[in-house]
Amino acid sequence: MIISKLKSEILVFLNSDLSAEKKLQDICDILRKEMKEYHWVGFYLVDNSSHEELVLGPYSGAATDHTRIGFGDGICGQAADTLSVFVVDDVNAESNYLACSPDVKSEYVSPVIWQGELVGELDLDSRTIAAFQCIDVEFLSWVAEVSAETVAKVSGDLLG
Ligand code: SME
Repeated sequence: MIISKLKSEILVFLNSDLSAEKKLQDICDILRKEMKEYHWVGFYLVDNSSHEELVLGPYSGAATDHTRIGFGDGICGQAADTLSVFVVDDVNAESNYLACSPDVKSEYVSPVIWQGELVGELDLDSRTIAAFQCIDVEFLSWVAEVSAETVAKVSGDLLG
């Protein structure tokens, strides 16, 4: 499916009557199904009680041990600390990286910001080196932006 079609599908999910959690789940599922290099797609939610931890939210792909990640830890924790997008072409070259599977070769992480606050992250893994090119980064940053209100809602519902 081409990116413009995927964007339309994602907007249909977000504007539907589905629960906020199901909307994020559907986004993860369609991204993993339609983009052949996207092998794991998930949202992390900011734990509002501590505001120093990310908690795994809806995801599509293999189960991960990293269900809670402290700010500063791994690629996700660094993205939370710096509020920056991370595109890692070769995860094995990173010193501050939390491995989910030895098969993962590259990773993309974007902070999700709603009303000026970090509410979560969009995280993708690929088994291909340098899978996340300019076109992916642009597209995934758009996904992080349009899903921000829904991520804030799920994070509020699940984590209080
Ligand atoms: N690799 C991430 C951990 C999360 S998994 O990719 C699902 C990191 O280094 O933060």
